[in-house]
Amino acid sequence: MIIGVPKEIKNNENRVALTPAGVAEFKKHGHEVYVQATAGVGSGISDEEYVQAGATILPTIEDVYDIAEMIVKVKEPIAAEYPLIKANQLLFTYFHFASSEELTYAMLKSGAVCLAYETVEKNDRSLPLLVPMSEVAGRMAIQEGAKYLEKPMGGRGILLGGVAGVKPANVLVLGGGIVGTQSAKMAAGLGANVTIVDISLPRLRYLEDIMPANVDTVISNEYNIRQLIQTTDLIIGGVLIPGAKAPSLVTRDMLNLMRPGTVMVDVAIDQGGCFETSHATTHQDPTFVVEGIVHYCVANMPGAVPYTSTLALTNATLPYAIQLANKGWKKACRENEELKKGLNVVNGKTVYAGVAEAWSLPLTPVEDVLGKVIVA
Ligand SMILES: NC(=O)c1ccc[n+]([C@@H]2O[C@H](COP(=O)([O-])OP(=O)(O)OC[C@H]3O[C@@H](n4cnc5c(N)ncnc54)[C@H](O)[C@@H]3O)[C@@H](O)[C@H]2O)c1
Repeated sequence: MIIGVPKEIKNNENRVALTPAGVAEFKKHGHEVYVQATAGVGSGISDEEYVQAGATILPTIEDVYDIAEMIVKVKEPIAAEYPLIKANQLLFTYFHFASSEELTYAMLKSGAVCLAYETVEKNDRSLPLLVPMSEVAGRMAIQEGAKYLEKPMGGRGILLGGVAGVKPANVLVLGGGIVGTQSAKMAAGLGANVTIVDISLPRLRYLEDIMPANVDTVISNEYNIRQLIQTTDLIIGGVLIPGAKAPSLVTRDMLNLMRPGTVMVDVAIDQGGCFETSHATTHQDPTFVVEGIVHYCVANMPGAVPYTSTLALTNATLPYAIQLANKGWKKACRENEELKKGLNVVNGKTVYAGVAEAWSLPLTPVEDVLGKVIVA
């Protein structure tokens, strides 16, 4: 198959969908890889490295879309890319169709096959192509929190780990999923006193078993959260209710229970945030203060560390991309339920229930587009 890797053109997106290691893997399986010039520079990968791995560099984004049977990307196509997409072309990338009607209609009109990273789903309902970005954001949340706890940045002026003779900071992690686990590990590693709060007792039991001694677990309810925030220096918001807006676990009236200069990092801001006073911010202007409490609410945290994010994402996407290239999308999706769940829009039809519901479109059963298997 002919694989195309365009340079991401969405504002401030420095990740790239394939590394030189990925190129080498495709080549090993007999595929051709075309990478747009400078596609990797934002992640520290030069054109030369791609060439050495066996890719051909093409000068423009038009060249890449023109030649490729499968496009691998990071972010959803933006308007400038819509006219470049061809009928039957396979696009493997994040789409988030339910949040853009314009994108949904553009992809339906294109006749392309859109396989979305975010809906590839394992049997246990986990989302393997979202996990790496949660890992990055969870770890980053502590770095950012530690920075904004510094006095010149507006924080309380407390060092997470303390020093000999001085107590460490208290870190409260709301949600003990991927983000929460990674945050707790980082904060504990720096020597802070960490409390993880979750509604799932089995999850808390698991975390209690694997976390170091400076991490406690507490069941999530309003009473417990009200108590904990009064002595907390840094709060990480990492809760998720799949398919719904995040619950507001810290409400406006709770802010005056907290000490001025407390920092709250709302990682769940991409789902509406789990602090009532949150609103989305950018890396250019990441924080704002409400009633003396510093809020950090960047919606695309992994974008600040494109090198790590690119490697983490491609580690997860490559095995699926190779299956798609080796078998073609129909056979690959027939044989792998995880990939099949990634199909959202196929040849002008909506095949994913969440997208059909979001825009009141007719839903075509995914089996209808996968075709019949002829048994000889
Ligand atoms: N801002 C960013 O750049 C960025 C990056 C990656 C992920 N995220 C977001 O971070 C959030 C968390 O992602 P994740 O992968 O860790 O999800 P996850 O599903 O692994 O974990 C969510 C956890 O929240 C818990 N939870 C649900 N309701 C709760 C409540 N009322 N109180 C306490 N805990 C509760 C669940 O039991 C679960 O353990 C998501 O909204 C995700 O989209 C944001």
